[in-house]
Amino acid sequence: MKHQIIFLIIIILQFSTLTLSQTPPSGPTNITQILEKAGQFTTLIRLMKVSQVSDQINTQLNNSNQGNGMTIFAPTDNAFSSLKSGTINTLSAQQQVQLVQFHVLPNFISMSQFQTISNPLRTQAGDSTPGDFPLNVTTSGNQVNVSTGVDDATIANTIYTDGQLAVYQVDKVLQPMSIFAAPAPAMAPTPATLKPKSKSPAGLNPTSGNDDLPAADDSGVERIAMHGTTVLFFGISLFVVL
Ligand SMILES: *[C@@H]1O[C@H](CO)[C@@H](O)[C@H](O)[C@H]1NC(C)=O
Ligand SMILES: *[C@@H]1O[C@H](CO)[C@@H](O)[C@H](O)[C@H]1NC(C)=O
Ligand SMILES: *[C@@H]1O[C@H](CO)[C@@H](O)[C@H](O)[C@H]1NC(C)=O
Ligand SMILES: *[C@@H]1O[C@H](CO)[C@@H](O)[C@H](O)[C@H]1NC(C)=O
Repeated sequence: MKHQIIFLIIIILQFSTLTLSQTPPSGPTNITQILEKAGQFTTLIRLMKVSQVSDQINTQLNNSNQGNGMTIFAPTDNAFSSLKSGTINTLSAQQQVQLVQFHVLPNFISMSQFQTISNPLRTQAGDSTPGDFPLNVTTSGNQVNVSTGVDDATIANTIYTDGQLAVYQVDKVLQPMSIFAAPAPAMAPTPATLKPKSKSPAGLNPTSGNDDLPAADDSGVERIAMHGTTVLFFGISLFVVL
């Protein structure tokens, strides 16, 4: 009986050392693997893949010359699904890249460093001047908020940190101003939409080109006249090209 118990203990010990020796990650840091392991980041993983930002991140982390490390704000699947439906799909490919890069900072920032960091932060998306890609951090105690000027996110959790890479879970998708604060495209035929260039097809058929002009009250006469001139010019240049 005693022997059997000792035998059992030895087997258990062997199994536990076996599983322990399997856990240390091997090879270079892989952001996809880190997010897969954490769960609830399938949308972010997919976006990182199609935009090839995950490859960029892995390459930079594996490059020994890149000594500053990296910080990533990782919105959960819930964060993505709380966006208005279709938001991501209506972005251009370039905007999708920028959106993902906006969540990546080109240096390692620990939780405690957020307390003293100066705003705005620089992201991989580029310019942090107002109207472009500014990202600000505010703290209160241990709570860290990130604000874009469009929305605010709270850091919910540290998913990963190794002194070179930090990955923080955030409860919102960080929406950069230059993508989400741009004025909505005006559908109504206001004078501002009558820019000659956007109406180029009108040059082929001047009569139908006037369909969506505002009713010709006194103040509108001049605009219509200018528009007519443009159509005329367009027609002439078309004629010259032909
Ligand atoms: C990173 O991990 C993902 C998923 O586990 C894998 O598909 C990919 O090939 C890995 N990338 C590298 C550079 O090892
Ligand atoms: C990481 O860097 C080393 C040394 O520069 C290189 O040999 C290796 O191929 C790189 N691995 C990946 C996955 O990029
Ligand atoms: C962070 O955001 C939460 C939720 O929006 C808010 O209640 C809290 O006051 C904010 N804290 C700071 C330091 O801005
Ligand atoms: C970010 O911080 C800078 C510097 O304090 C400030 O000028 C700017 O208005 C802030 N922007 C946002 C969106 O909070």
